[in-house]
Amino acid sequence: MKVKVKVPATSANLGPGFDVAGLAVTLYNTFTFELLDDGLEITGCPEQFCNAENMTYQAFVEGAKTCGLLFKGLRIECSGDVPYTRGLGSSSTCIVAGIVGAYAFVDRYDERQEILELATKIEGHPDNVAPAIFGGLTVSVMSDGVTTLNIPVKHDYRFVAMIPPFTLSTEKSRSVLPQVLSRSDAIANVSHLALMVASLINGYDDGLKLGFKDRLHQPYRGPLIEGFDEIMTILENDERVLGAYLSGAGPTIMAVIDATDTKGVVRIKEELGDLLKDWQVEKLELDM
Ligand code: HSE
Repeated sequence: MKVKVKVPATSANLGPGFDVAGLAVTLYNTFTFELLDDGLEITGCPEQFCNAENMTYQAFVEGAKTCGLLFKGLRIECSGDVPYTRGLGSSSTCIVAGIVGAYAFVDRYDERQEILELATKIEGHPDNVAPAIFGGLTVSVMSDGVTTLNIPVKHDYRFVAMIPPFTLSTEKSRSVLPQVLSRSDAIANVSHLALMVASLINGYDDGLKLGFKDRLHQPYRGPLIEGFDEIMTILENDERVLGAYLSGAGPTIMAVIDATDTKGVVRIKEELGDLLKDWQVEKLELDM
């Protein structure tokens, strides 16, 4: 028996919702699992990841322990389009797929809360794994377990992912963050997050630019990405861009446009010109 798991890319934080908010987008990785009598075979990912340290395998092992699957050997085939270490939740696709794969062999793949708890424990924060499991836009709270809710989004948006040619590890991107925030920065983030969530639910697009503003991580991570401030300023000044934020730990930058803004990608590319030289630009939808 083979088990195939398809997991969406995710874009976390959405500005002020650091480690809280995330959304699933229409870019996917697919993993096929097959139990073997012995050994470990991994194909389809860079050679340095084809060993027992592989994140998908590690998550499968943890998932197997939790769901009671006994296995001796495993074959994993990986494929997909989610770029590595770019702030689009590639590691979450591996973690979620590994756990769901193990749960599927004991016919428990739909136990989402249990899968969420374990995935969050492995990743350390829930904002990528939650939308990867539940789809759509999610907010999550870590307190005595993980509580995740899907937030209904009223309007039909498109997410323009500007993906640089260079990588930025989450570890490095977290290492530059301050340990302590001032009260005014904390209040700014709480209010912006509330505005952003309320605007998305109510379709109040005028609230998004302010709602996506962040003082907790973007000001510290921006210097790690060449051109970040210029790109954000140009996006800010584009009246048809509804909002923009650093996707997850970066370096991908996400702009939100309305579905009717069919020329949005071309316009954004023109406005940003050489700032996006060698960057990949993808127009994505919310994965439900
Ligand atoms: N919330 C996490 C961070 C997401 O910003 O570090 C990492 O993908």
